[in-house]
Amino acid sequence: VTATPTRRWRSDLDDWRIPPNLLAATAASPWTLPAALFAGRARRQLEDPSGLSYEIAAAALPPGGSVLDVGAGAGAAALALRGTAGWIAAVDEDPAMLAVFADLAATAAVPADTVAGRWPDVAATVAGADVVVCHNVLYNVPDLDTFVTALTDHAAERVVVEITAEHPAALLNPVWTAVHGIRRPTRPRADDAIDVITATGVRPQWRAWQRPITRDGTGYDELIATTCRRLCVGRDRAADVEAALLDLGVSRERPYLGPPMRDVVTIWWDGTSERPPDGVRHT
Ligand SMILES: C[S@@+](CC[C@H](N)C(=O)[O-])C[C@H]1O[C@@H](n2cnc3c(N)ncnc32)[C@H](O)[C@@H]1O
Repeated sequence: VTATPTRRWRSDLDDWRIPPNLLAATAASPWTLPAALFAGRARRQLEDPSGLSYEIAAAALPPGGSVLDVGAGAGAAALALRGTAGWIAAVDEDPAMLAVFADLAATAAVPADTVAGRWPDVAATVAGADVVVCHNVLYNVPDLDTFVTALTDHAAERVVVEITAEHPAALLNPVWTAVHGIRRPTRPRADDAIDVITATGVRPQWRAWQRPITRDGTGYDELIATTCRRLCVGRDRAADVEAALLDLGVSRERPYLGPPMRDVVTIWWDGTSERPPDGVRHT
């Protein structure tokens, strides 16, 4: 059987599963990231919008137009557009993140709605928008083709997706090897997402660029604690985790993994939704 881009994406993501014996030994989810990270990112984008994805979305957004943010977290992608947007809808499966978004939108006096649920499962209950944004979500999505098609058919003008060039957990791969003796995957990458998006029948454009890392909630001690959780080990292995992090250039002055600028890719394409009528709230 030939591996279609979609099948390959799903099987590459499946390889990221954590070995069941390690998962069984831990209570805390190794996949949860600090909520403060996303709240800080959203707050900064609200105050000082920046980045290529923001520029490409802003160029397609009519004054007073509507924005739908899928996998919104605290809404960093959409809140950056608050100067032009007349209305923002945020979809996320995590209601706690949506509550942070709702607070930020209220503070900025942007009319906003939230929808708690999994995309595309809830897509039928969500109205179309002028621009659909989706940042840092695709590596969470095994069934990428149906996810992408629902983005496309909810955008009247443009869909703008941003992802890191590599799977965000790949930075921890050397730590997995040091602590567990396990080799972790390297695929899928942003190129693979572009292949899946293209296979859905749209014609994406894309550009690679670099974004400064977000370090909210990741001081040195926090980084060690988070890394222990992500590697499914208790505090009894914290010294091993710390040694592996130090080997990778982490220090109290530099409490993060990898370079301070991250390779990211912005991918955008035309939507196919009917243009939402002006001045209508879409709930
Ligand atoms: C890494 S965070 C990114 C948040 C935000 N877009 C940002 O860039 O700061 C990914 C978010 O997507 C949400 N998410 C992942 N898969 C989802 C899905 N299929 N439907 C809805 N939300 C999803 C998670 O709950 C999480 O809040």
